[in-house]
Amino acid sequence: MPKPKVLSTNPLFGPAREILDKNFDVEYWDKRDHPNEEHISRADLLSRIREKDALICLLTEKVNDELLNAAPNLRVAATVSVGYDNIDVPACIRRRVVATHTPGVLDDTTADFAWTLLMAVARRLLEGDAWMRAGTWPGWDLDQLCGGDIWGKTLGIVGFGRIGRGVAQRAQGFRMKVLYSDQARVAPDVEKSLNAQFVDRDHLFAESDFISLHVPLLPDTRHLINADSLNKMKRTAYLVNTSRGPVVDEAALDAALAAGTIAGAALDVYENEPRVYTGLIGRKNVVLAPHIASASIDTRTKMAVMAADNVLAVFTGRRPPNALNPDVLDN
Ligand SMILES: NC(=O)c1ccc[n+]([C@@H]2O[C@H](COP(=O)([O-])OP(=O)(O)OC[C@H]3O[C@@H](n4cnc5c(N)ncnc54)[C@H](O)[C@@H]3O)[C@@H](O)[C@H]2O)c1
Repeated sequence: MPKPKVLSTNPLFGPAREILDKNFDVEYWDKRDHPNEEHISRADLLSRIREKDALICLLTEKVNDELLNAAPNLRVAATVSVGYDNIDVPACIRRRVVATHTPGVLDDTTADFAWTLLMAVARRLLEGDAWMRAGTWPGWDLDQLCGGDIWGKTLGIVGFGRIGRGVAQRAQGFRMKVLYSDQARVAPDVEKSLNAQFVDRDHLFAESDFISLHVPLLPDTRHLINADSLNKMKRTAYLVNTSRGPVVDEAALDAALAAGTIAGAALDVYENEPRVYTGLIGRKNVVLAPHIASASIDTRTKMAVMAADNVLAVFTGRRPPNALNPDVLDN
């Protein structure tokens, strides 16, 4: 029996390859073989997927009608990410293609990084780092690089799912007041254990010293942070975004920072990755990270293994543990 054919748009990590290589005939796209490309081109993807039974992809690849049309044998598309705005799930349902993602294994690493950004922007770490590297630090002074305090302040979390709650948990060590807004209120025992208070979004904007975003990218979360919401925030507030770039209107954020509407922002994700809104680049009160919130070796390996295991499940009669549309496997 020939093994099912898998296309992986990334070489992944050893433990994921072990699962795949044992069970499948796998083609890995590797940028080391394509010196001028960071990711597989769309044309290359559409051509390589043609005979494949499964796809392992990254958030940079769109799984939509165009791709599904090009892949008549495809049974599963596994994105190595928890966010799945790159996958048209209804289109997958129509084609009876299982779509899977990687929830849970990146929560703590991503929450840690939201905190990394929060602390870096509040305490002006990169401005100080730039001085040290340039040899321009004039020596200690009383009013030098004074930032905002973190401990004892109010943290507002928008989107209180797995990662949002991880961020709240870490706030306890800083004796912060935690507010959250979400489309649904969590169970009272969860609120109690995280010392978090459910509020409406406007209340959260008005009261928070730090606002951290943890919603998925959906039509109703696109530009959730816009000129209007920024105007509701404190002039001393900091915005942290580790969710998805289009959740923030970057032009509006830039204008708000220019006008002093808020104190600063720290971003891991961008509206048009890998580009950053030009105005933000020159701002000292902005920390810019290259979409690395889940980027620890352990976590990225776990994500790749999870994607491989979901693919394996489809071909071994198991229910894929992280299917977004498990119903396509019924009847
Ligand atoms: N920067 C990164 O590298 C990175 C890493 C991991 C996750 N992410 C992003 O973070 C997102 C959240 O991940 P998660 O695992 O915590 O997801 P989750 O599904 O556990 O939590 C998302 C929360 O957002 C809430 N929500 C959805 N729509 C909303 C709305 N309109 N208003 C308010 N709340 C709303 C949901 O009810 C849920 O509680 C992912 O979808 C992904 O896009 C980014």
